[in-house]
Amino acid sequence: MASDFAKRTTADLHKLQELLREASDGQVASLQRSLAEKDEARILNLACGASHETETLIDFVSKLGEDPLTDDLRKVRFRGIDIRAREIADAQLRFAGKGKSSDTLETDIGFLHDDATKLDQLSELEGEADLIFLRHQNYWHGDRIWDEIFEQAAAKLDEDGRLMITSYFDREHAQAIEALEKAGLKLRKSITNDDSRVVNARIQKTIDRHVAIFEKVKG
Ligand SMILES: C[S@@+](CC[C@H](N)C(=O)[O-])C[C@H]1O[C@@H](n2cnc3c(N)ncnc32)[C@H](O)[C@@H]1O
Repeated sequence: MASDFAKRTTADLHKLQELLREASDGQVASLQRSLAEKDEARILNLACGASHETETLIDFVSKLGEDPLTDDLRKVRFRGIDIRAREIADAQLRFAGKGKSSDTLETDIGFLHDDATKLDQLSELEGEADLIFLRHQNYWHGDRIWDEIFEQAAAKLDEDGRLMITSYFDREHAQAIEALEKAGLKLRKSITNDDSRVVNARIQKTIDRHVAIFEKVKG
């Protein structure tokens, strides 16, 4: 029988799936065109923790690149990175090499125990990403580190790519948007999850309270 934790995680992921669709609605045309021309879509999940959302993100991106007129094989390369070894070990145990592949979808999933302020030095992450995701970015926890992570993320984003964040807190979300804009990204849309699950009422910490989507400033 599923534990309460597993049930909550599953419900949160269903909600996240809805939020990704709502935030990206009307905001991803150039990404869809770009993915339709590529052999492989690349997802980078930064500061991913145990990366519970691995399959949710793969599903989201693989459907963006879907051509309804063909059933071509689509490939998704997913990399998660976090500085905490235990979280990455957990993510590896859950997902590495276990992507749901099918006749039309092939996945390559891997995790790195490393520092996201040094993305440009990690050969495993060569090339640009089509979707960069940061769930529950932690800007309040050290703005200098997060400024660096955001700068690295902006540099790693494909010209037609999108970066998406979610936030636990209202104020932190606003701060992160400002920092990402300074890092060279343009906010396309930000939505609020009015049903977000409360994890700590005293500090108003709730799961995926806000979701924002950004693109690279061109030119
Ligand atoms: C609020 S947690 C969010 C974790 C996960 N994304 C989630 O939603 O459960 C913030 C994460 O940032 C990670 N982190 C902090 N600094 C980092 C860095 N320099 N490089 C990579 N990860 C970092 C932490 O280890 C932590 O897992």
